[in-house]
Parts: sequence; C-alpha cells; structure tokens
Amino acid sequence: MIELTIDGKTVQARPGTSVLEAALAHGIDIPRLCYHPELSVSGGCRLCLVEVEGRPDPVPSCGLECAAGMVVRTRSPRLAEMRREIIDLFVSDHPLDCVICDKAGSCLLQKYAYEYGVSKTSYQFELSRTLYQDDNPFFLRDHKYCILCSRCVRVCEEIVGASAIEIAGRGFNSHVATPFDGPMIDSTCVFCGNCVQVCPTAALMPVSRRGKGREWEVERVKTICGYCGVGCEIEYAHRDGQILYAQSTPQAPVNGEFLCTKGRFGWDFATHPDRLTTPLIRRDLAYALGLTDEPWRLPDESPLETPASSIAERFVAVDWDTALDVVAGGLAQVVQQHGPDAVMGLSSARCTNEENYLFQKFMRVGVGTNNIDHCARL
Ligand code: SF4
Ligand code: SF4
Ligand code: SF4
Ligand code: FES
Repeated sequence: MIELTIDGKTVQARPGTSVLEAALAHGIDIPRLCYHPELSVSGGCRLCLVEVEGRPDPVPSCGLECAAGMVVRTRSPRLAEMRREIIDLFVSDHPLDCVICDKAGSCLLQKYAYEYGVSKTSYQFELSRTLYQDDNPFFLRDHKYCILCSRCVRVCEEIVGASAIEIAGRGFNSHVATPFDGPMIDSTCVFCGNCVQVCPTAALMPVSRRGKGREWEVERVKTICGYCGVGCEIEYAHRDGQILYAQSTPQAPVNGEFLCTKGRFGWDFATHPDRLTTPLIRRDLAYALGLTDEPWRLPDESPLETPASSIAERFVAVDWDTALDVVAGGLAQVVQQHGPDAVMGLSSARCTNEENYLFQKFMRVGVGTNNIDHCARL
C-alpha cells in the first residue's frame, strides 16, 4: 500500500489507484463530470483538478496515480476559481433550462454550477449543438444539453461492446454521433440504455420520463428483474402509480449500474390494463366443474388467434386455491391413466433459482418423472 496525504488526511491506496479514487474511498469528494468508476479515464472535463505539493500547476486527479508521500489539496481559492472558469465555459454552450429540465435535481452540471455559483456564462453564449433526435421508442437525444463528457461513448464500447456511437467533428462541431449521423435504429445500438444511465445531464433521457416528474417528485422502489435468472437489481422511479423509468445503482450486487434492454425498458407490462391479475380457467372446464352457469364450446381455431377482447368470454376468473385444485386434479388424472412419463414440466427463467430447484424436485419426486426442462435452453 502507498501512503499519501489528501486535504491533511493520511490515506492508503493500492499502487495504480488514482488520486480521485483514493480521495473518494476516504470520503473526500472531488468535483468530476467525465469520470465514471466503471469506465476508462478520459480526462476531458478538467473539473477534478487538484494541487500537488511540488508541482506548479493543478493536475486532473482522475488520471493522476497515487505516489508515496504525495501531498494533495482538493480545495483552495485557486482551484475554486479554476473550476468556476471551467463551468463558465460549459454553460457558454449549454442552455441553463434547469427550470423546465427533466434532469434538474439529478444533473451533475447543475449541481456544480450551484456549488460554484455560476448562474450564467461570462462568455458570448453560443449554442453549437441543436440536434434533437427522437428516433427510437426508448430514449431521446437532446444534443443542446450534451457536455461531450464521452461517458456514453465509453460505456457503449467498454461495457456493452456495441460501439454504436462516437464523438464526431471538431471544436463547436463536435457531437455524439452514430455512423453517418443516422438514426439509432440503423446503428449497432442494442437499446440497453446504459448510455442514458451514465449521462450526467439531460442530453440522454428515457422517453417514458419526458415531462412526467423531476427528481424530488418521484418515489423509488428496488426490486429484482423478473426477465431472467441473472437476477439484476432494478430501481423503478414511479409517480402516481406509474413507472417513469428503470435504472440500477452502483451497489447492485450482480449488475452494478448496468442493465440490458429488457430490464431497462421492458417494464410496461407491470401496469398494463391487459395484465393478468388472477388465475383464469377455460369456460368449458369451469362449466363442467360447476364454476359457471354459462356453457361454452372450445372453438376450432388456434388459441393464438384468440383476440384479447374475447378472453373474458372464453375464460372464468377464479381464486388461486380453485386454480391449483384444477391443475393438481388434472395432473393426477393423467398420471393415473398414462403413467408419470406422460407429463412434462417446463420451468421458467423468470423464477428464482430456489423456485426452479423446488419445481424440479416436485416433478421428480412428486410426479415421478425426469421429463423436466427449462425455457432458458429453448
Ligand atoms: S441538463 Fe442540467 S444544467 Fe442543463 S438545463 Fe438540465 S438540469 Fe440544467
Ligand atoms: S443504448 Fe446501449 S448500445 Fe445503444 S448507444 Fe446506448 S450504450 Fe450503446
Ligand atoms: S450525451 Fe451525455 S454522456 Fe454522452 S457525451 Fe453528452 S453529456 Fe456526456
Ligand atoms: S473527472 Fe477528471 S477530467 Fe473529468
């Protein structure tokens, strides 16, 4: 371990650790915009400047390796002035729309502008990026809020492996671009939304969140994604009974901050009016069991062609005990008449490992067959 001093505090760090990481690990906060703990260092924003004893000029701490005996200062009047200047430059090309911006309250540029008292630019305001791209159902790209921190580009390349976007152009023409500036759908984007998650401003925002509520107006609830056995932790931001967007947190044990497209954007079923909320039994069976007075004959066409509107005609809602009795009775009858191998169990990746374990136990020991498989193999 290396020992150094940051803001008068003696800290220890492993060789290769940056000063920024060492400071954060010891509860010393350094302003930063382009740094993200899961991504490579870009050193583009310069907000994380620190003073190092023996060096005449401040150095970006995200790219500075800890060295034994180093003495670092993260706050000083000179650093404050330099950071103010950097933020001033950012807002010279960024509309301060915070009063109407969906990101207000969770935007890093807003946070640091507030912290360093920058309410407007002292330069001539120049809005160089005006592109607004609403070309996919998942997220919006509003380039006027982009600060070119390149977090989205790095997450796409380094974590997702899609390399769908890049920073194209030079100077005021620089912008985050797909190949040939085409629509997202024509790029290699897999719509995982991890770029949206790491974007520090409103440049990338979920469509579902637009105009629906800001940071202090939404509530959050943590759950586990039900789509597959990986078990990613998801945090749903919701308001008035509606989910606004899904994200993850760095503390999530399996997935950290990252999600796939299903977890990130595939949650509309949760409050969909067609969602099944109670077991259903086919009406002919329900009639035979005396659960309804209305007789009904199974139609000849495939159930896959059953329009949603006729579900109510064809099925009868029952409670769980009744549904389980019907299933258990049907299974027992098949086993009695044709033997246990006439039954097959197909389990689901949407169940937990424990549930899948219990299911195979039930099939092998309860029913008495090894005819068991899992949808993840199909
Ligand atoms: S992106 Fe941030 S700084 Fe820009 S308008 Fe929105 S809240 Fe304000
Ligand atoms: S949604 Fe995923 S794949 Fe598409 S640009 Fe963003 S990070 Fe890359
Ligand atoms: S879109 Fe967001 S993450 Fe990407 S460069 Fe712009 S501000 Fe950074
Ligand atoms: S956070 Fe270090 S240069 Fe941006």
